[in-house]
Amino acid sequence: MNVIVIGAQWGDEGKGKVIDFYGSQAEYIVRYQGGNNAGHTLVVNDSKIVLHMIPSGILHGDKICLIANGVVFDPSAFFKELEHLQSLKVLSAVPQEQIRISERAHLILPYHQRLDQLRENQAAKTHTNIGTTQKGIGPAYEDKASRYGIRCIDLLEPEALALQLQRVLAEKNSLFQHYFQTVAMEFEPLYQDCLQWGERLRPFMADVREILLEALKHQKPVLFEGAQGALLDLDHGTYPFVTASHTSAAAAFTGSGVGLKYPVQVVGVTKAYTTRVGLGPFPTEMEQESAELAAQIRQVGEEWGATTGRARRIGWLDLVALKYAVDMNGISSLALTKSDVLQNIDIIKICTSYRLHGNTIYHFPASASDLSQVEPVYEVMSGWGVYESSLMHTLADLPHELQNYIKFIEQFLGIPIILLSTGPGREETLIISNPFQEELAH
Ligand code: GDP
Ligand code: IMO
Ligand code: MG
Repeated sequence: MNVIVIGAQWGDEGKGKVIDFYGSQAEYIVRYQGGNNAGHTLVVNDSKIVLHMIPSGILHGDKICLIANGVVFDPSAFFKELEHLQSLKVLSAVPQEQIRISERAHLILPYHQRLDQLRENQAAKTHTNIGTTQKGIGPAYEDKASRYGIRCIDLLEPEALALQLQRVLAEKNSLFQHYFQTVAMEFEPLYQDCLQWGERLRPFMADVREILLEALKHQKPVLFEGAQGALLDLDHGTYPFVTASHTSAAAAFTGSGVGLKYPVQVVGVTKAYTTRVGLGPFPTEMEQESAELAAQIRQVGEEWGATTGRARRIGWLDLVALKYAVDMNGISSLALTKSDVLQNIDIIKICTSYRLHGNTIYHFPASASDLSQVEPVYEVMSGWGVYESSLMHTLADLPHELQNYIKFIEQFLGIPIILLSTGPGREETLIISNPFQEELAH
């Protein structure tokens, strides 16, 4: 069986931990969308590593980590991350044997990042910014869609690259100089950087689609690593407060170039509460109702962005939003993280519907304005006191109140929770069933 792991909320659900945990069972781990806006945290033997571009299976040593065509790839950020991992001595002596990058992946170049920053700063003056990570993700996907993009493979064709870079830069510079009233970006240093990146990337570049196809044909287990979360999906998320890629499970196929023919289970990762970093509607946000509790959860759960360091907004678990994510992605089971963070809270709330314009609604509204006006309707449940993560080996070991919370979520969504994460460490994980060994439901 192959497994797609995606975030079922607004990102930062604990995908990195879950993927690292499942990594031992896969032979290939694939990033297929997003870029270095992702921040996936792995805690192994008490050391913490945050990955932005390199798949979260990398610490297993003997796995092939693939960056597929759907990713927007920042070469400068990639080499920084690679050097960091090398300094930690967690990579093999020949990293290109462990990491392969699609020739077809589009590049994030310095002008994308600059444009992202200028736009966000300009929009902030009228409070119309999105709160992006400012990594250039949106502008890079824009260029891809407008056929202005430069791909990894293009770095190896100097003459064609020069022409394309000149064309793109002329347009970007017109924006920089005339619209944003700032300095132009020079062609020559950027061109030289591109040529150098090309040479350094050459040994990593591969036809990732072909590698994956061979793996799937030979029934080697593949783990697809989603970035961001379902509610940040470009089509189905809380538009315009979304990222620029498809974060839905279906993107694993388009973003890696393999067909729909191979068996796959979709595991959604959700926290026992909700967080959101960046702007946009957030129905169950608890800041107004209880700033103190939000601050406590942020502190205990270390809820600061792994990529930008921004404080994450905190809210109760929202089952209306989660149901939407489950249906939209064909999520067949869930990994529930961070219930340990809610220890010592007497009353736990869980949202089961919304009130909007005097009506009760059970769906996730498309309108950003409606979504910012909905009032969550909560089921109120007793908290689960304190538990010792290292003693939680089976569901029966959990406090009854937490068992009830889990059952409530499962019944509401109609799918099982198959993994319970009770702390950031690899060993703080309770397995209920194994998606790599699941039979497909017909
Ligand atoms: P990702 O983007 O989905 O990979 O998530 P992040 O790494 O951005 O954020 C999740 C944070 O929660 C990280 O700091 C993880 O180390 C941490 N984490 C993951 N699972 C658990 C858990 O069950 N309990 C606690 N306390 N922390 C967790
Ligand atoms: P992981 O993979 C949480 C959010 C940004 C912003 C919006 C658009 O770690 O879960 P972008 O830079 O993508 O154009 O920003 O998306 N965002 C994330 N939030 N986790 C992420 O990744 C995110 N990647 C982007 O905060 O609201
Ligand atoms: Mg993250």
